[in-house]
Amino acid sequence: MKKEVRIFCPATVANVNCGFDALGFALEGVGDEMVFQKTTQKGISITAITGADLPSDPKKNVAGVAGQSLLDAVNADFGVAIEIHKKIRPGSGIGSSSASAAGAVYGINQLLEHPVSPLALTRHAMKGEALASGNEHADNVAPCLYGGITLVSGYTPLQIVALPSLDSVFVGIIHPHIVIHTKQARALLPTQVPLKDAITQAQKLAGFVASLYEWDKALFSQSLKDVLITPHRKTLIPHYDQIESCAIHHNCIAFGISGSGPSLFALAFAKADIDQFLESSTKIFKKHQLQVDTYSSSISGQGCHII
Ligand code: HSE
Repeated sequence: MKKEVRIFCPATVANVNCGFDALGFALEGVGDEMVFQKTTQKGISITAITGADLPSDPKKNVAGVAGQSLLDAVNADFGVAIEIHKKIRPGSGIGSSSASAAGAVYGINQLLEHPVSPLALTRHAMKGEALASGNEHADNVAPCLYGGITLVSGYTPLQIVALPSLDSVFVGIIHPHIVIHTKQARALLPTQVPLKDAITQAQKLAGFVASLYEWDKALFSQSLKDVLITPHRKTLIPHYDQIESCAIHHNCIAFGISGSGPSLFALAFAKADIDQFLESSTKIFKKHQLQVDTYSSSISGQGCHII
């Protein structure tokens, strides 16, 4: 049985336009590292945090909360010391808190004599996610644990479907340096939606899932639309419409808010299109005195893993 483990936990894009609180995918090469060590003293201790200013009190830290939830469930007779090395900026919209929550349960699971299932891990990671966002949604933690593209097909009970993954789609992320709290972005949303919009959205999500199984590129591109959430949230992101036009201009097949933002994502079938989109959209934000981070990536088939 392992006593120490070092892992990588990927950044993730949630919602993916057509699947609010349901769809998400893992990003290749963008993510945090965490180190786990068994301790004789029970409970979680957070012994190091680099790359971000986060609480080291395990009760106030998403990794601590998620990890403790797993330790309690398995009645562990040991504790775990966790180091968190953040590369994903908190509040960026690419699953920073989820990487810590999912990473915590994945890492601790490696130290257990009888490891638990990815579905059970997702439930514990959601406890950490709730601390950060006020809501137990799984559309970031599921792809972070499973890798690839995941669908949360139910919350009560929790059901996760690992969808066919794609290696022929390229992903661009642009993170303008503004702060949007997920709680605030959720509070903006209406509690009821018109039936015609609900139908359109159901069609888009169903079309998206079908396109993956058939690998129908045209259906895939047509399905990545959102009539429910983005119209309310895009007001939080300056120059959203201009950046969207830039994505269309550079042949991107999809564009939208990553999770609750402020990061924006674009998908394209050619890496050159993503790179040109990132270059042009960076210029737009910089012209308006906004600093950005950009990532040119792809969908990773791998979730959290040992390094
Ligand atoms: N589905 C969540 C939301 C993701 O959009 O509020 C947050 O990262």
